Amino acid sequence: MASEQQMKDPLLVGTAIRAQLEHEIPQDIPLDRDFHEHTDYTITDHVQELHRKLSKDPRTLELITSLVSHIHAFARETRPTHAEWSKTIQFLTAAGKESTDYKNEFILLSDCLGLSALLDELEHPKPSGCTDSCEPGPFYTEDAPEVPSGSSLAKAGTHGEAMYFIGTVKNLKGESIQGAKVDVWQADGDGLYDIQYPDRVDANDRGKIIANPDGTFTYRGILPTAYPIPSDGPAGQFLRWLGRHPHRASHIHFAVKAPGYDDLVSALYPSHSPFLGSDPVFATKKLLICQLVEEHDPTKWAEMGFKEGEVKSGRVWVWKYDFVLASVEEVEEVKRIQGYNAKL
Ligand SMILES: [Fe+2]
Repeated sequence: MASEQQMKDPLLVGTAIRAQLEHEIPQDIPLDRDFHEHTDYTITDHVQELHRKLSKDPRTLELITSLVSHIHAFARETRPTHAEWSKTIQFLTAAGKESTDYKNEFILLSDCLGLSALLDELEHPKPSGCTDSCEPGPFYTEDAPEVPSGSSLAKAGTHGEAMYFIGTVKNLKGESIQGAKVDVWQADGDGLYDIQYPDRVDANDRGKIIANPDGTFTYRGILPTAYPIPSDGPAGQFLRWLGRHPHRASHIHFAVKAPGYDDLVSALYPSHSPFLGSDPVFATKKLLICQLVEEHDPTKWAEMGFKEGEVKSGRVWVWKYDFVLASVEEVEEVKRIQGYNAKL
């Protein structure tokens, strides 16, 4: 094993290392075993042993030990060629170069691999009977206004057909939850969020609804349509390689909060939408799909709060859903039963 004196010997180490030794002396270990494939001490064993001996953080060691184990097994199983690995490196390099503050190719890849959805389910387990959670996506903004139940979230002139949403917020016992706030954000009838319009002045198709004391709420808005995730970069290429498309089914995002209850971030999908079973980011879950009803009676439109002439398509899409929240204690109990261990 090299001594500190050896490390600093200009005959043995170059200028760059000696400069770094001014700040930190690395821990060295002797190489007393050789490692080869098809022997009882492979490169996998050697990498793991090096990490075991040098790593100081147990959680980092646990994560990397598992990663090395799986990625080496992947290499042995699939035997990528140099050309394939070179293509992979080029792909990841492009993902890094094309990522911006507004479009992160690595987040998209995590989503498209189903990893984001899996991590969300692992970290936010829900008791049976609760509304499933799903990814919030990239279009949430902080500037949505706080509004009472019954408000309109769509400005006049927003493109799309009229929609009326009727919701309740209950607990697992079926009791109404008091003090619920329902943050809503959605695309319009062109499949675009307000922030995708260059002339946006303030929030549209979004709002923080204060539910009624009995846990009910309604809002008037626009029926959203399907839209694609960004597909002009490596994540889009990835989808095309797999024969997949980038289109997300129509949906509305919700974030529901109430005192004493676990925060719920989710989305709901109309059953009439295409792409429900081939969601590029795997956020569409069966229990979040809703059957909408068309209301053709103008007197009912007026009762919903639509003004004369406001409904232009001859119908209002009525969308009902009952959100079920778990209490903080119920979620802790699920985590305890599932052996959840927040290590980081
Ligand atoms: Fe979305």
